[in-house]
Amino acid sequence: MGRIRILSDDVANKIAAGEVVERPASVVKELLENSLDAGATHLRVEAGGGGRHLIRITDDGCGMLRDDAMLAFERHATSKLSSARDLLSVSTLGFRGEALPSIASVSRLTLETRSRDETVGTKVEIAGGKMLRCEEAALAGGTQITVRDLFYNVPARKKFLRSDQTELAHIASLATHYSLANPDKTFTLISDDKELLNTTPVDRLRDRVYQVFGSQTLDELIDLGERRGGEHALYTLRGFISRPQAAKLNRNSIYLFANGRLIRDRLLLHAITSAGYNILPPGSFPFALLFLECDPADVDVNVHPAKTEVRFREQSRVHDFVRDALRQALIESKPVSAIPLPARAQPGAQLPYSEFSQRIENQGWQGPSELPSALPAAPAAEGPLPEFTLRGPRPPAPRFDFSDAPAIPVADEQQLRIPVPETHGAFPPELVPDLSQSLTALADLRPLGQIHESFIVAAGRDGLWIIDQHVAHERILFEKILKQRAAGRVEAQRLLTPLVLQLTLAQQADYDRIAGELEAIGFETEPFGQRTIAVKAAPAGVGAAEVEKVIFEILEIAERELRRASLDDLRRSIAASIACQAAIKVNMRLDQGKMEWLLKSLAATECPMSCPHGRPIALRYSLRDILRGFHRI
Ligand SMILES: Nc1ncnc2c1ncn2[C@@H]1O[C@H](COP(=O)(O)OP(=O)(O)OP(=O)(O)O)[C@@H](O)[C@H]1O
Ligand SMILES: [Mg+2]
Repeated sequence: MGRIRILSDDVANKIAAGEVVERPASVVKELLENSLDAGATHLRVEAGGGGRHLIRITDDGCGMLRDDAMLAFERHATSKLSSARDLLSVSTLGFRGEALPSIASVSRLTLETRSRDETVGTKVEIAGGKMLRCEEAALAGGTQITVRDLFYNVPARKKFLRSDQTELAHIASLATHYSLANPDKTFTLISDDKELLNTTPVDRLRDRVYQVFGSQTLDELIDLGERRGGEHALYTLRGFISRPQAAKLNRNSIYLFANGRLIRDRLLLHAITSAGYNILPPGSFPFALLFLECDPADVDVNVHPAKTEVRFREQSRVHDFVRDALRQALIESKPVSAIPLPARAQPGAQLPYSEFSQRIENQGWQGPSELPSALPAAPAAEGPLPEFTLRGPRPPAPRFDFSDAPAIPVADEQQLRIPVPETHGAFPPELVPDLSQSLTALADLRPLGQIHESFIVAAGRDGLWIIDQHVAHERILFEKILKQRAAGRVEAQRLLTPLVLQLTLAQQADYDRIAGELEAIGFETEPFGQRTIAVKAAPAGVGAAEVEKVIFEILEIAERELRRASLDDLRRSIAASIACQAAIKVNMRLDQGKMEWLLKSLAATECPMSCPHGRPIALRYSLRDILRGFHRI
């Protein structure tokens, strides 16, 4: 690393300025980033009292020359930047020359450092920004910075610190995630003499994930491998995303790194949420650990004082690339729901700082907010003959009344009980079901009949399948509508008499904004007096009786989605809404031909395992479970 210089006013003024030190974890973040920039391979973090009393970071990086050790505490003193031009392609984590002076001004700080180019090291002591001492010291190569009594001279900020445990959790999360971003380095975290983290260098990110989270969590994650995208700029995405069944109820377990920098980026958060759209249940979010790499010139890191936000040169390309890569990974991994059903998405373990995480989530991110070990455990399949409880289906209003017989009412509370044998233990290898095979097995299913005129029971190569006829048809129609929409060839049908709808002022505004989308999807509408529209045609499958409901639903979606300004999401929501209305319902008798058609068409969809709202479509009672049930294995 070059010698430290003070940035000219011109460059300094171009740097996003603001408060750098908010809490102990922000100190740890800045110091760890400095150590990484210094090329350290061993990084040791010590914390006392959640970092309030003591934070010490020791590294074996390049160290500092004596003159630099003093200069480093001046504002805008950095070795990482010299001209405004350098700001356009920052390849180090630091660049502002702000961190050390900011930390030193609110603590008692000791810097001990030795560059390998000098025989003797330097020790500098500062309190509240005032240099107390600077002397020579016999030191090994590298740097150690000790920060004591954080905010001792700023009681107002000290007041806002949370419990030691909460502050420690933030530090732990940070150290853990920087260790994940740097698998080839050793990270140690010690709190009040207890070792919380110790990672040895490994070759692959996967191995580091294993070291940090353990094998059970690794099993719940999809390894993205390396995915590339972009046109002018090249983006590479690596990392992990949780399998759909391990989704979480908030965004706290999403960790994003852009060129090795931990960031909280709205655009990428939106891309991640959109990826799960129509695959994960609504309101659930994946655990994600994503590393996005690109040329430093294609991303502006100088947009946020705490360096936690970035701006990509091709914002929407990056968004779509990440969304599509993740969506593809989720679709590829979507398993058949086994019986018993996996538990619904659970919030991470209620850690003592979750209330705080919520608060900072609402306010925008200030630092990682949850210990990453909180992935929900896989549902246990232990104990003798557990009972599978299926809630009675929630019947949407019946639409296609194929049968003349009255529909069998299914109360919400009504439950069907099917005993299920335990599923653990050894299993002959030739019978171990392969997930990808079981997906292709869908195409070979032989329908045997219906339960409750709602669920198709089918025999397959690998076991007994139960398919929810409504959501299966919904998935088929959803993908068909999206394809037709993309090709500009939607099927529409004229209504015998135009339907006149009265809109509220807000609905009128939403209608004006999305009239083009409505038309493109098959609704022929036109204004008909004040705040009134006439609907003359609707997408095929949506009967006259449902048109009103679908239009109002779409206007509601438009209100929600347009605020987030994603046309792709709006289209998918509209397609899901139409598919839901047009799909066959539960409590409807299907003949053999219809059942066969439904299963074949389902097998041909891209994501046959979950409906556009994220509910499972098929349950499988595997051959293994059947054999176990009959005590044959
Ligand atoms: N652990 C370290 N090892 C070697 N040099 C360091 C270390 N920490 C800081 N330095 C030197 O001190 C300088 C000032 O550090 P500081 O963190 O204040 O600024 P920066 O890293 O350049 O920018 P930023 O404010 O964005 O972090 C760095 O540019 C670097 O030259
Ligand atoms: Mg720095």
